[in-house]
Amino acid sequence: MPALIIGNWKMYLNYTESVAWFAKHSNELQILQQQRGHTLIICPSYDSLSSIASTIQPRKLALGAQDCSAYANGPYTSQVSAQSLKEIGCSYVLIGHSETRKNLKGTIEASLLKTKQALAHDLTPIICIGESQDKYKAGTTLKFIEEQIRPILELYKINHPEKQLVIAYEPMWSIGTGVIPSNEHLETVYSYLIKRASKIGIQRAPLLLYGGSVDEANISTLKKVPQINGYLIGKASTDFQKFKKIVELIY
Ligand code: PGA
Repeated sequence: MPALIIGNWKMYLNYTESVAWFAKHSNELQILQQQRGHTLIICPSYDSLSSIASTIQPRKLALGAQDCSAYANGPYTSQVSAQSLKEIGCSYVLIGHSETRKNLKGTIEASLLKTKQALAHDLTPIICIGESQDKYKAGTTLKFIEEQIRPILELYKINHPEKQLVIAYEPMWSIGTGVIPSNEHLETVYSYLIKRASKIGIQRAPLLLYGGSVDEANISTLKKVPQINGYLIGKASTDFQKFKKIVELIY
């Protein structure tokens, strides 16, 4: 089954490295994407987005941003608007990634505003959710996820019933740690999300991604979870050989 595969480069690569990575590897990835029918999306850091978008003309791979402002424009020092990201050539944007929530004090309300901005400018938001280790250990994963996703589900139901909702479940205790959840835990989470989306009246079933320490060694285990439609890959996606291997192993 074709998958949505996102490389989240975070701040691992600098400007020069990011542009060079694309110049060297995007042809090969495009061929791989066509052969497998997957959708490959790369989310480099803000600084390199524009150069990459112009380097890869005609567009070979989809581009995403790692965040966007919750506001349309105005006195928001350091922020980048969804409109600018669209103009640069992005098609996707990560919303509410846990590192953004933690380091830039992102809240559930901010994620909702960012999602609205993204949708208003024809970007597909990748809604990132996931609990801390404490919440996981306390057995409150589903309760926390419910708090994070409910406003988004309501937004899609009321204002964007025609749009495809994309949700990435990324447990915070799995990001960058080398630890992945059991398939049983993942199946419980995804079944819950499917049930919630349907109960609230979302017509199109959400696309469900997994993120957190995905690599070429654990992808074969992860892909046994039937509800997963794709992956959000951090560190491993910056290493071309690893990323390619993961893509080849997905289906
Ligand atoms: P990781 O990051 O693959 O490096 O754990 C995933 C993510 O944060 O999206």
